[in-house]
Amino acid sequence: MEQPERCRQLTIEAAGLCLDYSHHRVTAESLSDLLELAREARLEERREAMLNGSTINTSEQRAALHTALRNRSQRPVLVDGSDVMPAIRDTLERMRALCQHVHSGEWTGHTGKPIKHIVNIGIGGSFLGVKTALDGLRPFHREGLTAHYVVNVDPADLAATLKVIDPETTLFIVASKSFSTLETRVNAEAAKAWMLEQGMPAQDSHRHFIAVSNNINKATQFGIAPDNILPLWDWVGGRYSLWSAIGLMIPLMTSFTVFERLLHGAYSMDEHFRIAPLEQNMPVIMALLGIWYSNYFGAQSHAVLTYASDLEAFPAHLQQMDMESNGKRVTTEGQPASWQTGPVIWGGVGTNGQHAYHQLLHQGTRLIPVDIIIPMVSQSPIGEQQDWLFAHALAQSQALAFGCSEETIRDELAKEGASQEMIDTLAPQKTIPGNKPVSLLVMESLTPEALGALIALYEHKVFVQGVIWGINSFDQFGVELGKVLGDQIFEQLNDSTLCASEDSALNQWIQRYRRIHNR
Ligand code: F6P
Repeated sequence: MEQPERCRQLTIEAAGLCLDYSHHRVTAESLSDLLELAREARLEERREAMLNGSTINTSEQRAALHTALRNRSQRPVLVDGSDVMPAIRDTLERMRALCQHVHSGEWTGHTGKPIKHIVNIGIGGSFLGVKTALDGLRPFHREGLTAHYVVNVDPADLAATLKVIDPETTLFIVASKSFSTLETRVNAEAAKAWMLEQGMPAQDSHRHFIAVSNNINKATQFGIAPDNILPLWDWVGGRYSLWSAIGLMIPLMTSFTVFERLLHGAYSMDEHFRIAPLEQNMPVIMALLGIWYSNYFGAQSHAVLTYASDLEAFPAHLQQMDMESNGKRVTTEGQPASWQTGPVIWGGVGTNGQHAYHQLLHQGTRLIPVDIIIPMVSQSPIGEQQDWLFAHALAQSQALAFGCSEETIRDELAKEGASQEMIDTLAPQKTIPGNKPVSLLVMESLTPEALGALIALYEHKVFVQGVIWGINSFDQFGVELGKVLGDQIFEQLNDSTLCASEDSALNQWIQRYRRIHNR
């Protein structure tokens, strides 16, 4: 293929995003083989099944219907024969009313002051997506409200937040699909105890605590007023829940209109994913490229480099979205997968990474496919900084794809007057081999719509890869053992009469911990 033709053919525009994958190690033939793989995996049928609310999460006997949360059409979405859209719309209306109440100053704390601090207590999918979206929307944040997150069970996390909030003007959102996640439960209890210590009358806790959960009973037992509990459904996976009331911080900190624009962007990507033929389908192509490198080139990881500071949190959200979804070793039939499944996802913001880990991308021994995400117009322009940012994003893409040949380096060294011995020693060290796979994912600017489309794009990419690998992308049994062991060890740390473990290393640490705490 001629260069201009290749560039034209290997570019897809959809939902305000443009994917340029012309710098990949693919030919028309390899792409057609990859598309064949997708068809063999019955991708189109699986896509329909997901979007139509079928029970595609077979191990947990549930649908995976995050797309219904951002369905902006009038199409009904049926789960077990009943339309879930009325409940979704009703919850959106409750969110809108709640935001209006807080923004107008009608919602006051126990001393009658309006809300100034919003604290999201949640972890995993009840934190990462919300943080990613809200950071991505920084230019749309309201004046006078500050967002805080309490995530980790490390007391330092809560302590740092308690230091900067004001108990009279703080609203806590306890965000937990299950309402039984240890970190969230412990932090929520401690926050409530602190509020009571700070003078909140117990009967006024409804002015300071709201919850979003699928477990209304547990949220009620915790003491959240029924009117302050927003629902979530079992067919919304935690890592796909930012579009639900779990994302309440987003409209609270911006506006409900901005949240709707975010949903709209995601919906546009859903529609593209639903309708576009596989060869023109952005999430499908991104998924196939990932499979190409994981399964045919042995790539172990995938880097996501965001040339937008407001997207700094995105790689962490992707880590959960991708690695919790596709970090699986058996198929949906329970058979061992004899192929590599989900890669290690990592990344960070450009240009910061250029002065840190890009060295390994350019000259390391590992093959690491890269996504470079970049808006062309800054939402916060200052001088010529966006020009520099864009120039560096393109420069990295060029350097990864084309590198700098040993021949060029040798010529340069010779021109500088280096000895032959010096040239022979230095040239290989300075050579940048190039031919590193890189996608450019460009948007005009980081609007709520573009952000919604971007997050949805990766959700669908992860889904497509799961279909081709034959795994269930919607469960996460691998995280359960750690929770069970954590509960047992917690008991042992606190009660010396409990039996010691058979693992002497574990016993040693339990005993040392007890000694240091005089137990
Ligand atoms: O432990 C993993 C996990 O279940 C994630 O899948 C989920 O997003 C997170 O914990 C938080 O769960 P919850 O929203 O139920 O507190």
